This record gives sequence, structure tokens and C-alpha cells, in this order.
Amino acid sequence: QVTSRPFQNGNQFLPPQRMALDYVVPCLNSYGICVKDHFLGEELGSKVLGEVEILNQSGKFRDGQLVNQRTVPSKSIRGDQIAWVEGKEPGCKNIGTLMSKIDEVILHCAPKLDKYVINGRTKAMVACYPGNGMGYVRHVDNPNGDGRCITCIYYLNRNWDTKVHGGLLQIFPEGRSLVANIEPLFDRLLIFWSDRRNPHEVKPAYATRYAITVWYFDAKERSEAKYKYRIAGGQKEAHLPMSQANTSS
Ligand code: OGA
Ligand code: OGA
Ligand code: MN
Repeated sequence: QVTSRPFQNGNQFLPPQRMALDYVVPCLNSYGICVKDHFLGEELGSKVLGEVEILNQSGKFRDGQLVNQRTVPSKSIRGDQIAWVEGKEPGCKNIGTLMSKIDEVILHCAPKLDKYVINGRTKAMVACYPGNGMGYVRHVDNPNGDGRCITCIYYLNRNWDTKVHGGLLQIFPEGRSLVANIEPLFDRLLIFWSDRRNPHEVKPAYATRYAITVWYFDAKERSEAKYKYRIAGGQKEAHLPMSQANTSS
């Protein structure tokens, strides 16, 4: 087993475009996974955590849903509670700032990810594992071409000790004999391909575990999926302010 070290960048500060081009793009192209620590910094990271804690305390979270689930209760698959956030709601200003900062990095990456034309994303899924020993069984975010190509997860857990609190994310990259063990540490941003290349699972968590996830869409796959699956669109979706077509670098 190999840890996340080869695709993990610790303390180095980089402005968004440099981070995207010098680090995230090569990392995704080599490993399909990329970890950036100290993504927002202490101050902004703390504000985001504060907003998430208030959302949780005010009862805004619901049980995580499954897209294709008819028979098995979803609780046996994923034990998180979630809230969808656009970033403009009262009390979500800093979550909105986080979303803009992730957009900025991904949009700088976009021209170099030649497989994709990224033109939108989901709202943010704020997730809380309550710490009752539940996790999320092994799954692929987008196994059937629903349009999502990149998963970005921002973690919010201070003093997290996996040996005590569990909650490790394990990614099993397709065709490789390595496991990426990602600890859900405060101010860490994780980026990975959403498709079958990256099956992953969340180990049982024994303390409150917060994360914020956004998924970016490939324009072509998304429009085909809307046709195939008659997805109404709109509800959980946001179009990005800039398109890849007019991003030059
Ligand atoms: C699923 C799933 C999370 C999501 O339904 O299997 O991964 O993407 N859901 O909303
Ligand atoms: C998910 C998921 C991983 C994590 O919500 O689809 O895989 O580390 N989350 O929270
Ligand atoms: Mn997942």
C-alpha cells in the first residue's frame, strides 16, 4: 500500500493559476488524484467551518440520497447527512467564496484537460458523517456517464486522527496496485476523476466529519446525459461564469 504522498502537495503557497498548471494538471494526468493542503488558509477555512456547523445545528441536513436505489435502504450504503448549497444563501457567504476559489482552480486547469470541456458544476454538497460508525461503501461517483467528470472535496476536520476517529477516504485507482489513503484534514482540497477510474469508500467515522463536495461537468457528456436520462437540469446545477472557450493560456 502506498499513501497519498506522490500526489500530495503540503505547505507550498501557489496562486490559483500556478497551482492549476504546475501542480493540479500534471498530478491529475499522472495519478487521476490530487491533494492540496492549506487550500484556503486558517482564517477563511475557519469561517467556512463555522458556517457548516451552524447549518448542521439548525437542522438543514438530510440523509444522503442515492441516485439508483430502489430496494436497499440508503443508510446501509452511505451514512452521511447532506445539504445542497448554492453559495448565495444567508449564512453561506464563505462557502460561496470556497466554491469560487475551487472554480478558479478548475477553470485554469480546464484548457489543459483535453478530454473535457468543463462548462458547469453542481451546487455544493455539504456532508456530515455524524460519527456513529457509518461511512460510505465503495462506489464510483459517476459510473454511467451522468456528465460529472471531476470531483472536488474540501475537508474541514481539525485535529483529525484517523487511528481514533476513522473516516479515512480510500481510493482504489483502476488498474493500479495502490490505494490512496486520504485523511479528511482541515483545509485540504482533494480533486479526482469522477468516473470508473476512481472507486472509493469512506471508512466508518467515529467523530463528526465534515466535507464539502462539488462536481464539475463535461459539456458533451452532460448534454448527452440530459437527453438519455431526461434530467431536468437546473435544480442542483450551476453554469460557470467563464467558458473554457475564452480561457487562454
Ligand atoms: C450515488 C451517489 C452521490 C451524488 O447515488 O450513488 O454517488 O453524486 N450519490 O450525489
Ligand atoms: C461522496 C464521497 C468522500 C468523502 O460523497 O461521494 O465519496 O471523503 N465522499 O467524504
Ligand atoms: Mn464518492
